Amino acid sequence: METFVYTGHAARVIFGAGTLSRLRDEVERLGATRVLLVGGRSERAAALLGPLVAARFEGVAMHTPVEVTERALELVSAAGVDCLVSVGGGSATGLGKALTGRTGLPLIAVPTTYAGSEMTPIVGETADGKKTTRSDPVLVPKTVIYDVELTLGLPVGLSVTSGLNAMAHAVEALYSPDANPATDNFALESITRLARALPLLAQRPDDPDARTDALLGAWLAGICLGTVRMGLHHKLCHLLGGSYGLPHSETHAVLLPHVMASSPPAVMRRIAAALGAPDAPTAVFDLATRLGAPGSLVELGLGEADLATIAGDDAGVLALLEEAWRGDRPAALDDRPDLTALTEQVVASFAGASNPRIAELLGDLVRRLHGFVLDNDLTEAEWLGAIDFLTRTGQLCSPTRQEFVLLSDTLGISSAVDLLTNSRSPDTTPSAVLGPFYVEGPPAVPSGANLAEGLPGVPLRADVRITDLDGRPIPDAVVDVWQSNQDGFYDVQLPELEGPVLRARLRSGADGTLWFRSILPSEYPIPDDGPVGQMLRATGRHPYRAPHLHFMISAPGYRKLITQLFVAGGRYLDSDAVFGVKDELIVEFPPGPDGSRTVEFTFRLGAGNG
Ligand code: BEZ
Ligand code: FE
Repeated sequence: METFVYTGHAARVIFGAGTLSRLRDEVERLGATRVLLVGGRSERAAALLGPLVAARFEGVAMHTPVEVTERALELVSAAGVDCLVSVGGGSATGLGKALTGRTGLPLIAVPTTYAGSEMTPIVGETADGKKTTRSDPVLVPKTVIYDVELTLGLPVGLSVTSGLNAMAHAVEALYSPDANPATDNFALESITRLARALPLLAQRPDDPDARTDALLGAWLAGICLGTVRMGLHHKLCHLLGGSYGLPHSETHAVLLPHVMASSPPAVMRRIAAALGAPDAPTAVFDLATRLGAPGSLVELGLGEADLATIAGDDAGVLALLEEAWRGDRPAALDDRPDLTALTEQVVASFAGASNPRIAELLGDLVRRLHGFVLDNDLTEAEWLGAIDFLTRTGQLCSPTRQEFVLLSDTLGISSAVDLLTNSRSPDTTPSAVLGPFYVEGPPAVPSGANLAEGLPGVPLRADVRITDLDGRPIPDAVVDVWQSNQDGFYDVQLPELEGPVLRARLRSGADGTLWFRSILPSEYPIPDDGPVGQMLRATGRHPYRAPHLHFMISAPGYRKLITQLFVAGGRYLDSDAVFGVKDELIVEFPPGPDGSRTVEFTFRLGAGNG
């Protein structure tokens, strides 16, 4: 059972490229006429707002010092402001929110970095070297305008650290005590987008797609930041920024991988999957290093002596801070090597295939197999065991024994392929696996023939109709029937038998019907004296198939139907060894007064060829 409290903060979000052009509409929507424009680089916004700008305040500062807020506040009263518009990074948004908190004026935030503060009801202010935060729903901006174009010029260094700052919001949301499925999804999507975008931005800072990804990632991370409690990482960044004056986003970038390395491994595995990397903390550390983000707290100017004060008496936090201070690569939670380069090299090797489908299928197979090896930390002994198993499977194959088909059947792959290939139309009779015991060209017999002449078993009379989807009879359909004997063996399994037994080819008459006599099929074990049987025993599975009759029906202009009829009430219907049973194929075989059985069934064929 999941339990959580989710408080959403309703901000109107306008996202896109060139969305700043909507700013004036948004101000007017709030009924405002006198705007205080906050932020150092707000010329375009000023031009768009024209006479609506009552005053501008450009002196924003990091960590929202109260002296700065008070200076801006004077401007608010002097100019008779009725709306605040902040354009810029976290500091501009922070000042906007601090002013909203003091005046109640509505705020429109136009973020130009990936800080995420625009999506939260939180403001952090610094007074006398101490940072305090407060959370109040009134601080949430009324409208947030995300304009990808405004981020195109964001310097690479700031893009990287700000992007990692955003990633930190998403990371901490995943192990927050308030984590819930909504924020989990936002967080994982945010991490995927940011991790994808940042390396591209480092190469091409004006790539619009990467910028869009990064800004979307930042927005999603901002939602996380605004809706669930943050943890150790944010606490430490807050302390380092507020009390030690360390730069905001750089501190986030340095600390993130180290905090991740001491965070819940299960969460780190989810993040690793979102990153497409074997280990999340080292992947983020390597990403930050590759992108040239500052690598250590010492680089940011923190003294070693301060570490103990910050950590208090928490030895774990001290160790983490020392590692971050030195800038050491965190120990991998998971020391499995990164297979990406190897996998991609193998996948690329198929590029020359003359049939593109072969390249596609082999490439995907290799990706999944490498993923399987990695995810399960497969040992050499296990892989050699698998190869031995497959070798023995192949060695057992002969013209009358197909152990690979049996393996495919018992793994449900044959049924999966059959479902994909033959069960796309709900109106036709469902198909079922062919199995290994069909023999081409069974003996032709007339309707009414007995397929079990002289064999022991419960007598059976089967009456069959072949129709199209409208119930119209299909005459002259070729109907191949095969089944096992009373002991559960097909003729091909009994070398002493001469000629085909319990298999025949019939044809439907002008009214689409035919009938035949035989014996009641019983449950039987699939061949289990080889590797497949070994697998079944090793996994506690039985080898039995539910009792059934096989049919293969073809008629010109109709799709060939390969299927089976299962005896209602028979054993193993719900644990068929090859996963072949379908509800619509379970039919009554009612007993007559003499104990013999009958079955009647109408097969519906869909139009098509072959
Ligand atoms: C069969 O029904 O004949 C069969 C199908 C799959 C595996 C073994 C037997
Ligand atoms: Fe069978």
